[in-house]
Amino acid sequence: MFLRNAWYVAAWKDEVVEGALFARTLLEEPVVLFRQSSGAVAALEDRCRHRFAPLSRGRLEGDRLRCMYHGLVYDASGACVEIPGQDHISARACVRSYPIVERDRYVWIWMGDTALANPDLIPDCHWQDDPAWRCKPGYKHFAADYRLIVDNLLDFSHLSFVHASTLGGSNSMATLRPRIETFDWGLRITRLYPSDVMPPYAAALASYSSPVDRWQIYDWHIAGNVLSMDSGFARAGAGALEGKRPDDAFQFHSIQALTPETASTTHYFWTYPHNFALDDPSVTDMLANGISNAFEEDRVMIMAQQDVLNRSPDRTMFNIGADAAPMQVRARLEQLLAAEAAGEG
Ligand code: FES
Ligand SMILES: [Fe+2]
Repeated sequence: MFLRNAWYVAAWKDEVVEGALFARTLLEEPVVLFRQSSGAVAALEDRCRHRFAPLSRGRLEGDRLRCMYHGLVYDASGACVEIPGQDHISARACVRSYPIVERDRYVWIWMGDTALANPDLIPDCHWQDDPAWRCKPGYKHFAADYRLIVDNLLDFSHLSFVHASTLGGSNSMATLRPRIETFDWGLRITRLYPSDVMPPYAAALASYSSPVDRWQIYDWHIAGNVLSMDSGFARAGAGALEGKRPDDAFQFHSIQALTPETASTTHYFWTYPHNFALDDPSVTDMLANGISNAFEEDRVMIMAQQDVLNRSPDRTMFNIGADAAPMQVRARLEQLLAAEAAGEG
């Protein structure tokens, strides 16, 4: 159901604050996160080895975590270092700990085979934490299988319908067939719209009006479900679609990451960094709100779709031309899941 040998976003960096315990379920496993005195984040299984009390109801004692049921104490590696009233501590009295990397405002977690946790595999998300860009961290919870959201992000034909008054603007979103390139890490999708309508969410920002050239060029990283997108618009004919980005172009670099919570619920972490109006936080707020409203449109549709799916477990879906990218990714995901199950992952 989920790839385990992958880096997933566990939290926004700011969610894990010094002196507090942060609990979140990831890939069906309860996890507790906390900051050590070095500032590094530790992640432990949120289930005491003794009687399974959640450690997130425990107490931080320096860099150690005490279960507040019968008082066992664990260090940041998950080893038990104290059992009240008992000198002998079995090495088996430990809880699982997970490799963590904090990068680009994300807390990344590896929940598979620890020996394979190579930080070089983490996708580049630096736009979220770069002085040349501005953004506000966003989070949404979806009561839906993460794969329905993967399908949604790999097929922007829905922009014409779900997002007609937010991200969309014209029917060309639905009719365009993107260029799809395949890499070992995933897909690159290129969608270019010459002489099109300005996106509704950004119309208040520009001093010019439609027609504009629009582009959406994005990488989909299959491991960890991460989207990284160069998008924007410029005056029609100014060369933006040939790679020249004029000074009055509006450029964005969105990052979106999906971490399964359970088989039927998903954490959705997103930003929409922009590289203009750097000194005007009201622009960052306005964009974040506009995009959040648009993603809410997806959430409502996808959760309704999940509801129908739950009531039609034996029916299969029907594919159309716009499904090329989702079908490729689903097939790759199946292969990777099978390889992991066979112990090759
Ligand atoms: S359940 Fe944690 S100490 Fe007993
Ligand atoms: Fe959408």
